[in-house]
Amino acid sequence: MQIALVTGGGGGIGSAVARRLAREGQHVVVADIDLPAATRVAHAVQGTPVRLNAGDFDDNHRLAGWITEHFGQLDVAVLNVGINSGQRGAQPLDPARYRDCVNVNLDSIVFGIDAVTPLMAAGGGGLIMVTCSLSSLWPEVSNPVYTLTKTGALGYVRAMARLLAERGIAIHALCPSSVDTPMMGPSRGRALAQGFPLISPDQVAEAMMTIAETPGAATTWSLVAGQPPMPYEFAPVPPTLRPDGTVVPVN
Ligand SMILES: NC(=O)c1ccc[n+]([C@@H]2O[C@H](COP(=O)([O-])OP(=O)(O)OC[C@H]3O[C@@H](n4cnc5c(N)ncnc54)[C@H](O)[C@@H]3O)[C@@H](O)[C@H]2O)c1
Repeated sequence: MQIALVTGGGGGIGSAVARRLAREGQHVVVADIDLPAATRVAHAVQGTPVRLNAGDFDDNHRLAGWITEHFGQLDVAVLNVGINSGQRGAQPLDPARYRDCVNVNLDSIVFGIDAVTPLMAAGGGGLIMVTCSLSSLWPEVSNPVYTLTKTGALGYVRAMARLLAERGIAIHALCPSSVDTPMMGPSRGRALAQGFPLISPDQVAEAMMTIAETPGAATTWSLVAGQPPMPYEFAPVPPTLRPDGTVVPVN
């Protein structure tokens, strides 16, 4: 049986992903800072709940050690934890909220990848799926701090992809637009009033399955309402030229 970890597994997208992976026959470790929420989801999918502060380096490594001890393997890790910034547009910056958002949205990805990589590599490889955001690809003007964290997470995933592939681990970043979960808060009502279609958490989970099942799948994927998940193509950067005009090859 495959073992999967879903962080933020007690929330809207995380719980949908946990259900979807359980339907595939995987045993899901549902990790969340909110243990009662993780426990409800784990109970529903016959998985295992754990309390995790995903923004804490030691907590991530403790969890990886615990999974090693209890299951001896990790096949799939969905690094999905995220919070909103609570910082709207040009408001004066609240440094505590800024640090929280960077910690939960960015540190959790860096620490999570660091913690699960040795365990996956020891088992011959695995799959890491990171829940980024359309804000990773397009600046959300009303939410610059959130945009910063999601852009940073995507940059890290892209930079790590080849290094992880060398250890047998595939990593993908899924970048959804607005998803109908508690995270939307008051913006849910505004979006619906404006006729802006929301994605369901189940659609996000299904998109992750599509990516996982696509041979040689791209690292970065967008997901917007009314469309299937699509590999996202970045514009090439201009080539660096030597003084003699020849092109410097990039890695
Ligand atoms: N909802 C959207 O519109 C939307 C759109 C694009 C991307 N996303 C991303 O999807 C992911 C999941 O968000 P969601 O919409 O399901 O939100 P959600 O609020 O429903 O779920 C988030 C979960 O993360 C948990 N969590 C928060 N901080 C944590 C921490 N430090 N350690 C462990 N768990 C923690 C919460 O308890 C909650 O269960 C996030 O990364 C979010 O940025 C959401």
